[in-house]
Amino acid sequence: MRDLNNSNKHFRKAIEKLPLGVSSNFRYWGDDRTIYVKRGKGARIWDIDDNRYIDYRLAYGPAILGYADERVDDAARAGMDIGGVFALGTELEYEVACRISKMVPTAELVRFSNSGTEAVMAALRIARAYSGKEGHVALEGAYHGVFNEVLWYTDVEGWDPKNGAPQVRAACDGVPHIIKPLFYTVPLNDANALEDVLRKHHADIGAFLIEPIMGNCCALTSTKEYLKDVRMLCDKYDVVLIVDEVKTGFRVSKGGVQELLDVKADLCTFAKAMGNGYPIAAVAGREDIMRKVGKGVVHGGTYTGHSVSLSAAKKTLEILDETDALKTIENYGLRLQAGIGKILSARGIKHCFTGHPSMMGLFFNERAPSDYRCWKKSNYDFYDGLAIELHELGILVEPDSREPWFLSEAHDVKCLAETLDKFERAVEITMSKMPGERPRTQTA
Ligand SMILES: Cc1ncc(COP(=O)(O)O)c(C=O)c1O
Repeated sequence: MRDLNNSNKHFRKAIEKLPLGVSSNFRYWGDDRTIYVKRGKGARIWDIDDNRYIDYRLAYGPAILGYADERVDDAARAGMDIGGVFALGTELEYEVACRISKMVPTAELVRFSNSGTEAVMAALRIARAYSGKEGHVALEGAYHGVFNEVLWYTDVEGWDPKNGAPQVRAACDGVPHIIKPLFYTVPLNDANALEDVLRKHHADIGAFLIEPIMGNCCALTSTKEYLKDVRMLCDKYDVVLIVDEVKTGFRVSKGGVQELLDVKADLCTFAKAMGNGYPIAAVAGREDIMRKVGKGVVHGGTYTGHSVSLSAAKKTLEILDETDALKTIENYGLRLQAGIGKILSARGIKHCFTGHPSMMGLFFNERAPSDYRCWKKSNYDFYDGLAIELHELGILVEPDSREPWFLSEAHDVKCLAETLDKFERAVEITMSKMPGERPRTQTA
């Protein structure tokens, strides 16, 4: 067993000062399982008990080049010398915006934010202003940040298919129910369901907010055909198509998910990988829509365009655009999938991978689910058990099976060998502890 004495001790202290002992609800993993980080380097992190982990969470995606990447950190230090924020613009903003437009052609105009939440919030506001319609549609199971208009979830866990569609509920206390009528949901990959909603409610719906690889929902992936239909339906019903690339942007390809799956957004949002962990995000899109900013729509904030984050983003994007970093990550992902697949197949454990090799879902079923409702049929108890054993052995994956594994350029052959060795041991232990839960193939 891992020694978590220091983390446990710190948790008992931290809980006195910080709700749940942490700065984000998702970092609380239980009173005796919450870990505190001492440092990270490359693909690894060390906790305050000096347990070492190969990290496949990467802070939910940002550390695309690895933790404490010297190229990016040197750039951030140069950004410090500029002086931070001035409530005035700098030349760096223009340079980074030009790089984004080059990599993602639909990003004709760009505005910077500090977090994914802020960027999506801005995108929705701009879309409402442009369309003159206040409602928006999102996918069942989607996550777009921590603000009221997106803090609604589809209750698939409590859903009985005999009773029609799953209920939509506020994701937490404090979300005003008065805004619920502005929010519509549809299942992924069902263009008919989207058309039904738009046909009935297009007078009220100004935006369709979609993350085509659902980075918070086991990397469930849109088909290209679906996205073609989505584009057509948004045009037909005057709905602004917002592609949320907070996780996929500059990760699944240089041009993000739009390039990978061949879809053109009206507006798109970026964060995470664009700064290798420094807090920066962007809302971008079609010039005629983005020009609403400053002509009716307010966008800003004291810390937007911070010189440290912009310098880090400039360097990170330069590396992602001008080197083979993304190919390296993808190749690692493919080799990891092959190795994991071999281990599971040898034991007759049915499985498949979703998403993209650089942000992949591991799914204990023969076929990838097409939407969140199908996800319910997965054997996630086995995943949950496996995740705990992986943590014990020093492989850090999100304990919630809905979160994909994130890979960085710093994951190298040593990481691969160690991961596969430990993955095999974790599978063996999980199978011995949960004999009834083995997700076997029909033929096994
Ligand atoms: C698709 C997507 N959109 C928005 C957000 C919110 O970003 P942030 O946590 O930076 O506010 C996230 C966060 O994980 C996300 O995955």
